Amino acid sequence: MDHSATCAVDPAVVEAMLPYFSEKFGNPSSLYAIGRQARRAIEDSRQKVADLLGARKEEIIFTGSGTESDNLAIKGIAYKNRKKGDHIITSSIEHHAVLHTCKFLGTQGFNITYLPVNKEGIVNPADVERALTPKTILISVMHANNEIGTIQPIEEIGKIAKEKGIPFHTDAVQTAGKLALNVDSLGVDLLSISAHKIYGPKGVGTLYIRKGTFLEPQLHGGGHERNIRSSTENVPGIVGFARAAELARERLPHEQEIAGLRDSLIKGVLEIKDSYLNGHPTKRLPNNANFRFSFIEGESLLLNLDMKGIAASTGSACSSTSLEPSHVLLAIGLKPEDAHGSLRLTLGLENTQEDVDQVVSILPDIVNKLRMMSPLTR
Ligand SMILES: Cc1ncc(COP(=O)(O)O)c(C=O)c1O
Repeated sequence: MDHSATCAVDPAVVEAMLPYFSEKFGNPSSLYAIGRQARRAIEDSRQKVADLLGARKEEIIFTGSGTESDNLAIKGIAYKNRKKGDHIITSSIEHHAVLHTCKFLGTQGFNITYLPVNKEGIVNPADVERALTPKTILISVMHANNEIGTIQPIEEIGKIAKEKGIPFHTDAVQTAGKLALNVDSLGVDLLSISAHKIYGPKGVGTLYIRKGTFLEPQLHGGGHERNIRSSTENVPGIVGFARAAELARERLPHEQEIAGLRDSLIKGVLEIKDSYLNGHPTKRLPNNANFRFSFIEGESLLLNLDMKGIAASTGSACSSTSLEPSHVLLAIGLKPEDAHGSLRLTLGLENTQEDVDQVVSILPDIVNKLRMMSPLTR
């Protein structure tokens, strides 16, 4: 129940990747036969990933992760356009791959606007318009949030960006394979996705770059990936990503069934007293449910669920020395103590109604037990 963290690699993806480790192992930059074979595999893969996004093959750059794609998009645009302007607009609920990149650029002389969201976690396109200045060089707003699953009005923001001629990036890491993606109807110039969220391998990402959008490379070297991202290509990873992208397109209709399981999960869990759904009731990812339980901490819930063999996640970024409430939950207006009582359950292909029933049947006892022990209980 933690598919938004990562997924098992699909057996069909593993099968597609296997020959590219020891048999078809050539360096795609080598001119001899096995090199050319690897090059062909990459170019076929590029087409398949482009098809998932409604993009052209030449607009796809392979990277090492969703994080790298976000970094490349934001730093790449920022440094390329430094002479034109220094202002970047993003939202306050972005993944850290975007948020920390913008924070870093803030230390390098760029001005960053972090747009607020409403209590359901949605950015208002009018706020984007109001934030624009003559110095704005980039807008970056995520497609769907990884914690609370809210889907942003990307098309509307895309129209504003296009009208003003400002490059628009979206982090679609959580929407690939869950919502139909089309870069033209979204109106984006840059879009990040990651293979391991769509039953592909870890350590491979894609940045879609619209033709005519220019970036400063962030890795310099042999000039791979049209000189935008030097590094010998991860051929098995890219081939696996492409197979996962093909499967994701085929399986898109199945997301309706996953949404049905999610609705049944939400209905069952909200029977618990003083429990709430975080995020928007309908504008949310088909696989995402994020709850808040008054008087308890998400970490204790996780540990108790783990003891029952259920993998889940909490809104809190927790380390052994600090307990920081999630920036997303704070941004939707939760008090820090409420932000600590959150639980994210994200469904995927392997989940069944039995899994949902199991969670719904054991969660009330766990919540009651923790509430009895909690100093926060009234
Ligand atoms: C919205 C979002 N962006 C970016 C990332 C980072 O992707 P990767 O794990 O491939 O670096 C994630 C991963 O959780 C994510 O959910």
